[in-house]
Amino acid sequence: MGFGESLGHGKGFNYMILLVAVSFAFVLSSYNVEGGRILSEEDEFEIEKQLKILNKPAIKSIQTEHGDIFDCVDINKQPAFDHPLLKNHKVQMRPRSVRKEMNRDGGSSVQKSLQIGLKDGGCPTGTVPIRRIRKKDLIRTKSPSNIQNYSSKIHPLESADSPSGVQNTFLKATGDTYYGTTLLINTWSVNVSPEQTSLVGTWVANQQDNIQAGWMAQPRLFGDSKTRLFTLWTNDNYKTGCYNTFCPGFVQVSERIAPGMVLPVSVYNETQTEIEIAVEKDLARGGWWLMWGPKHEDVGYWPQQLFQSLAENSTFIGWGGQAFSPPGSPQPMMGNGHSGNEGYGKACYIRNVKLLNSKDYHTPDPNETDGYGDKCYALSVLSTSPEYEFYIGGPTC
Ligand SMILES: *[C@@H]1O[C@H](CO)[C@@H](O)[C@H](O)[C@H]1NC(C)=O
Ligand SMILES: *[C@@H]1O[C@H](CO)[C@@H](O)[C@H](O)[C@H]1NC(C)=O
Ligand SMILES: *[C@@H]1O[C@H](CO)[C@@H](O)[C@H](O)[C@H]1NC(C)=O
Repeated sequence: MGFGESLGHGKGFNYMILLVAVSFAFVLSSYNVEGGRILSEEDEFEIEKQLKILNKPAIKSIQTEHGDIFDCVDINKQPAFDHPLLKNHKVQMRPRSVRKEMNRDGGSSVQKSLQIGLKDGGCPTGTVPIRRIRKKDLIRTKSPSNIQNYSSKIHPLESADSPSGVQNTFLKATGDTYYGTTLLINTWSVNVSPEQTSLVGTWVANQQDNIQAGWMAQPRLFGDSKTRLFTLWTNDNYKTGCYNTFCPGFVQVSERIAPGMVLPVSVYNETQTEIEIAVEKDLARGGWWLMWGPKHEDVGYWPQQLFQSLAENSTFIGWGGQAFSPPGSPQPMMGNGHSGNEGYGKACYIRNVKLLNSKDYHTPDPNETDGYGDKCYALSVLSTSPEYEFYIGGPTC
C-alpha cells in the first residue's frame, strides 16, 4: 500500500499536497501545517474527530524534556478498551503467575540496569500515562480516517507493507512451547531518515500472532529519530495491529514506564546503557505481560482475547534486530552501526537471554537456538554459558 493510496479517502487530499505539507513542517517548525491552510476542511474535521476518540481525557499531562506529552488517563478508560474484543475486559493490575526467581536481585554485575521513568514518579494513582497523539502524528502516519478501523492497517507495519524493504537478523528458539523470555539490550541512537526504521528487541510469536518489544527509532511514527521503548502486536501476521498504544489493544498499568518514552543511550567506547525487558504469559489469565527492569516491574499487557494461538503459548521466540527502508533505498544501520568484531562497548549486544518453558526460566541451550539473517547485518554469539550473549547489527547497507 502506498503512502498516497491510503490517504485517498478524502477529496483534494492527495499525496503531493501531503509531501508539501510535510516539508514545510520540517523546514519551519513554527509553521502551522495543522492550521487548516493545507488540509481541506473535511480532513481537518476528520482529524479532530479522530483525535477526540484517540486521546482520552487527562487528569494530568506530563510534558517530557523530549517534547512528548503523556496524558494521565483513567486506567479504566484508556484506549485499549476501545477494542471490540475488550469491551467487557476488567483491568488486571498484575499477572497472577509471576515467577519468584525473576523478581529478585539486581540484574547485572557489569552495569547497573536502567531505572528510568516519567518525571515525578509518573501519573497519579488510578491513571496511566498514554503518549498523546497529535494532529501532526496523524498526518504523518498517513491514515486519519483509518486509525480507528481495526480491520485495516492503521499505521506502517512495514513487513506487510513491503516485505522487500525489511531486513531481519535474529536468533530464534522454536523447539518447544514457551511462556516468556527476558533479555538485556544496550541502547544506541541510530541514524534513520524519515522513512526508515531500526529496532532491536524480542519477538514472541505463534502462527499469525506476534508480539514485539525493545527499542526503536521510527521517525514516521514518532516525528523524530530518538530511541524509544516500543511494543507491537498483531494477530494476523502484520496485516493489522500496531505499535504501542497507537491503536487499542495494549493495556497500560504502570504509572511511570510507558511505551514510547525516550531512552538514554550508550556512548561508543564509554558508558553502556542497557534496558532489561521481559514478555511473559500470565498462566492464570492468559494475557502476555511486558515487564521492565531487573525487578520485572509490570508495564502492561496484551489480553488473551486479542490472540488465537498466542492465547495458549508461544512456539517462536526471537531476539535481534529489524531494519526497514522503502524498497530500492539503502537500509539504515542496525544496532549502533558497528559490528561485534569491535568488541564490548563498541557494538550493540543482547545478553542474559532467557526462555521460559512450562516451568522456569532457563538460559537457552545452543541446540535450542538458530540464527537467521536476511543479508546486511552481522550476528555473532559471544557466549552461551553461563550467560547467552551476542552482538547484533552493522552499518547502512
Ligand atoms: C475498514 O477497513 C477495511 C479494509 O481496508 C474496509 O474494507 C472497511 O470498509 C473499513 N471499515 C470502516 C468502518 O471504515
Ligand atoms: C577506547 O577507549 C580507550 C580507553 O579510553 C582508548 O584507549 C581507545 O583508543 C578507544 N578506542 C576507540 C576505538 O575509540
Ligand atoms: C500450544 O498452542 C497450540 C495452539 O497454537 C496448541 O495446539 C498446543 O496444544 C499448545 N501446546 C501446549 C503444550 O500447550
